[in-house]
This record gives sequence, structure tokens and C-alpha cells, in this order.
Amino acid sequence: MGRNPQLNAEGKLTHLLTLEGLPAEVITGILDTADPFVSVGEREVKKVPLLRGKAIFNLFFENSTRTRTTFEIAAKRLSADVINLNIGASSTSKGETLLDTIDNLCAMNADMFVVRHSESGAPHLIAAHLAATGRTDVHVVNAGDGRHAHPSQGLLDLYTIRHYKRDFRDLSVAIVGDVLHSRVARSLIHGLTTLGAPDVRVIAPATLLPAAVGALGVRAFHDMRAGLAGCDVVVMLRLQSERMKGALLPSPGEFFKHYGLTADKLALAKPDAIVMHPGPMNRGVEIDSAVADGERSVILPQVTFGIAVRMAVMSTIAGN
Ligand code: CP
Repeated sequence: MGRNPQLNAEGKLTHLLTLEGLPAEVITGILDTADPFVSVGEREVKKVPLLRGKAIFNLFFENSTRTRTTFEIAAKRLSADVINLNIGASSTSKGETLLDTIDNLCAMNADMFVVRHSESGAPHLIAAHLAATGRTDVHVVNAGDGRHAHPSQGLLDLYTIRHYKRDFRDLSVAIVGDVLHSRVARSLIHGLTTLGAPDVRVIAPATLLPAAVGALGVRAFHDMRAGLAGCDVVVMLRLQSERMKGALLPSPGEFFKHYGLTADKLALAKPDAIVMHPGPMNRGVEIDSAVADGERSVILPQVTFGIAVRMAVMSTIAGN
């Protein structure tokens, strides 16, 4: 097996492309690094000088509210210069290739690219191109590629779980909904299994689960009530209709009846179970408003922790 392309020759993280294959100590190191950055966000002056003078380019070829904004806030809190390329108004629409765009931004002395793309593998392609052209001091962060990976979301989900539950080693985590199309689910599963969570469950109709889901080290349930029984953490997923080819469900209403999180279904989890959702939420499709806004929901704290975790990711890879 070749060297992990996101680690340098010393085994340090130089790009963040996926949580798959990332050593536990690297993941834990990022979570630990994020801890003090949470308090930076609570100060009157929310800035530290760690990335002063660095140029960070946000390249979002796909829509985003949380990820794009929190990466921008995180970079600004690290004192970096942030450039948000407006993809719709860029020369991509005139046929410029992704790698030509990257070469041109490198000619402007870019230090880091934060990339969201609908094609799985686009951030890997950029990282390989930078390595092949000797630009080993330029970093790539995957902000979500197709249905493949969303590693910074996985890390902020892990941070949130650790914040509320302290230890992964005796946790039951249930991930519910459209696992098949979810890069969030894939990244969280890799992170949880690497950190030793003993019981990771996925709950979905067969049409919304990957064929070889068991190979990911999870238990699959089609009955939501059975899957939620006794769990510590419930992670709800959006139906990703933009990635669905053909009808995989009878209707959103039917989906909510069987797989929507309501207060009576949540009552089957542990009394102190937390409810998470990466966003964007579709209320009344995968989650009832009473649960989304209820006292066990940590959906908005996830967003806040996302800033500190993204500060940790960017300062770690630039520092390495
Ligand atoms: N969780 C997440 O990736 O949300 P956005 O699509 O708004 O960035």
C-alpha cells in the first residue's frame, strides 16, 4: 500500500482529504488543538496570529452555508487573508479546467485551498497535481467531495460527541437516513471506528444504504425503533435528492413516518442521548421540529464547534 497522500514524509498531516486511514493520534491531535480555539471565539478580540500573511482560497464549486462560512471565519480568526472565489463569476464558466484554475491561483502565491466539489476525488486530484509540480508547501482541505468524504464535518462531529460524552470507547452511535449518498456519514464512521467507538449503527431503508455497508464496521438496521434502542448519540442525515438517480423512496411523507426522528422514537435512546445533524435540515422530512429545537439537540453547538475545529485543521496542516 502506498503512502497516505495527506501525510508528509514525517507522517504529519499536510492536506486534509479524508478521515479514512488517518491515524487515531492525528485525529485526536486535531480535536485537542481545537479545544483552546473554542475560547478564542468567546473573547472580545477573536483573533490569534498563527496564519498571519497566509493566503487561503475558498473554492466552493457546490453550494454551502455552514462549511464555507465557518472556514472563512476560522481563517480570519487565524489572521490569514481569505479569498472567496465566486465560482459562478469565475473563468470556470468559460471552460477553464480545475487544474488550470489551481495553477493560476498558485501564481498568485496561494498557501491553502479549501475545496468543495460535486465530483468525488477533486481535492485528491488537486493535491496530486501540487505534489507532481513540486508545490509541496501548498495545502488542500477537502470541504466535501461528491458522496465521498467531508472530513472537517467528521472532525467537528467527533469534537461535539467528545464534548458531550467524553469517551468514545463505550458509545453507541446511530446514524440515520440517507447513508448511501452521505459524505458526512462516511467520514464520521471512519472517525468513530478509528477512535474505538464499539457500536456504530446505520439506520435506513435498504435503498439508502451502501451495498457493502458492513465492511465499514457498522451494524445496519432497517427498523428505526430497533436501531435507536439504548444509543448515546443520534445523528440524523438529510435526504440528498440532488445525488439520487431515480426514485429510492415512496415519498418524503412515508420516509418521515418510518425514519423521521420524533420525540416518541427518541425516547427509545438513552435518556441523556444527544441529537446531531450536519445541516441543512429538512424539518418534517428527517426530523421533527420539536426534536430539532428540543433540549437534547446539539445541532447549533455543532456549528459553533466547527469554527474551532477548522481553525485546528488549518493551523495544523500549515504548521506541519
Ligand atoms: N454540513 C454542511 O456541509 O453544510 P453546508 O452544505 O451548508 O456547508
